[in-house]
Amino acid sequence: MPQSATATVPNVVFKTRVRDERVEGPNPFRWQDVGTDDIFRGRKVIVLALPGAFTPTCSSTHLPGYEARYDEFKALGVDEIYCLSVNDAFTMFQWGRQLGIQKVKMLPDGSADFTRRMGMLVRKDNLGFGARSWRYSMLVEDGAITALFAEPGISDNCPADPFEVSDADTMLNHLKTRAN
Ligand code: BEZ
Repeated sequence: MPQSATATVPNVVFKTRVRDERVEGPNPFRWQDVGTDDIFRGRKVIVLALPGAFTPTCSSTHLPGYEARYDEFKALGVDEIYCLSVNDAFTMFQWGRQLGIQKVKMLPDGSADFTRRMGMLVRKDNLGFGARSWRYSMLVEDGAITALFAEPGISDNCPADPFEVSDADTMLNHLKTRAN
């Protein structure tokens, strides 16, 4: 069962990079501010939030799991899936590229504004990471958080990295159960 969640998503501005063919050189991108409203307003959106780009479980299972089942989510009425991490836009872009991510959108929360206001910001100084997102997933409908799957034991410098409930299967089962 998801944790009960009735809050709305925090109102922030994400600093993203988008392709722009007019920009010359090896890095044809420009900055684009994307607001909470741009992402969530009037749409059914899944956010999977994880502790770090290029890290093992995030790269092998968490993000690829949502990418692999993207079409099933779409068939259940989900408009978009975003992968959020407290990393900058360049890092998120290169991580997605390395993994061949084509469907899930990468969402950099480099300054942790969103994560902090979600109550999901934790210290990971024990790994030299600084402040990062706790691992969770959520279903957001027109800005309202209607399901939240946060991993157990949220804490600073947690010696473990639980990954039990924020996976794609759990979210899919939630959507299917709800549809019946
Ligand atoms: C992992 O995805 O495996 C991971 C994430 C954060 C810290 C260490 C490992």
